[in-house]
Amino acid sequence: MKAIIPAAGLGTRFLPATKAQRKEMLPVLDRPVIQYVVEEALAADADEVIIINGSRKVALVEHFSPSPDLSEFLISKGKKMLADAVNHAGDLPVSFVDQDRPLGLGHAVHCAAAKTGKEPFYVLLGDVLVPDNQVLRRMLEVHKRYNGASVIAVIKVPREQVSRFGIIAGSQLREGLWKVNDLVEKPAVENAPSEYAIFGRYLLTPTVMELLAHTAPGAGGEIQLTDALKTLLTTEEMYAVAVDADEGFDTGTIETWLETNVRLAMRKPEFAQMLKDAITSVG
Ligand code: G1P
Repeated sequence: MKAIIPAAGLGTRFLPATKAQRKEMLPVLDRPVIQYVVEEALAADADEVIIINGSRKVALVEHFSPSPDLSEFLISKGKKMLADAVNHAGDLPVSFVDQDRPLGLGHAVHCAAAKTGKEPFYVLLGDVLVPDNQVLRRMLEVHKRYNGASVIAVIKVPREQVSRFGIIAGSQLREGLWKVNDLVEKPAVENAPSEYAIFGRYLLTPTVMELLAHTAPGAGGEIQLTDALKTLLTTEEMYAVAVDADEGFDTGTIETWLETNVRLAMRKPEFAQMLKDAITSVG
């Protein structure tokens, strides 16, 4: 199965850090955000990750390309572990497709249509991390259990935040699993059918690619993936798997990126004490 990571946004919230590179290249601890997302897809049986690229892509492409000179240099200095980390990033099965105009998430996903063909595919948004890699696995189980239906991840958000997300209406089948009846992209608070927001992980049938080819611009004047999924519901079933608040880490704003770094650092003994000491000493 192929996995698509749309990564063509401008990253304006992070300027000037994103002036010359994509926001997906910002590091969380020792690697760029997007490398976690690529590794998450591969851990859920994706055999190729297709990154949808926009401008300022040189660093991103270079990150996922072999660097034999750097690797040899590190080995000559006795730094084999670092050479292994460099080689690992360069050897990941990543390919690139250009999105020449920023027409929306649905358009970005459709740019990979020639590569996904008639197979189901994953979509992973690049600004959330799922470091334990369990969400796609749960989605894959539901996809298999329900005859290859589309499955999306959802997370409960405070009512006043619903207009930032795609929101589902659904019937709960069991703890953490819904059958989706409707979806609406960025509803007004009073029109939101629930507080369950689409979380940025999708496992979709090839029909979605066909629908995206004909999806008109929606919220914000953009071609919305959510609108294609709403149309999908007229012919196919769809399920939603719940994500716990501590499973997903947002890196989309400076605040949440900082928090993600701290939370992940606190999981690592080599950073945790240093971080506690630093925070205690300043305040
Ligand atoms: C996108 C999707 C939205 C989803 C959100 C999750 O919105 O369109 O349905 O809830 O990602 O982060 P964006 O954040 O790109 O506006």
